[in-house]
Amino acid sequence: MQQAFKDEHALQCGFCTPGFLMTATALAREGRRLSRDEIREELAGVLCRCTGYDHIVTAVERHLNENAEARGDG
Ligand code: FES
Repeated sequence: MQQAFKDEHALQCGFCTPGFLMTATALAREGRRLSRDEIREELAGVLCRCTGYDHIVTAVERHLNENAEARGDG
């Protein structure tokens, strides 16, 4: 997940990043495939004042898809 955040430029100051990473890692452990809207809803409890949410959602989506592909669900 950390690599996906780095690759997708999903952080600036990093203040919110631990909350996003913890929330997104819990989502990844559930093993569900989620739409972008569902990812946004799941992350709604964490606020970012810098980055804008598109990059964050893209990073989480990318990681969830990579996990699904690794499990053979992709
Ligand atoms: S990167 Fe600064 S608050 Fe999210």
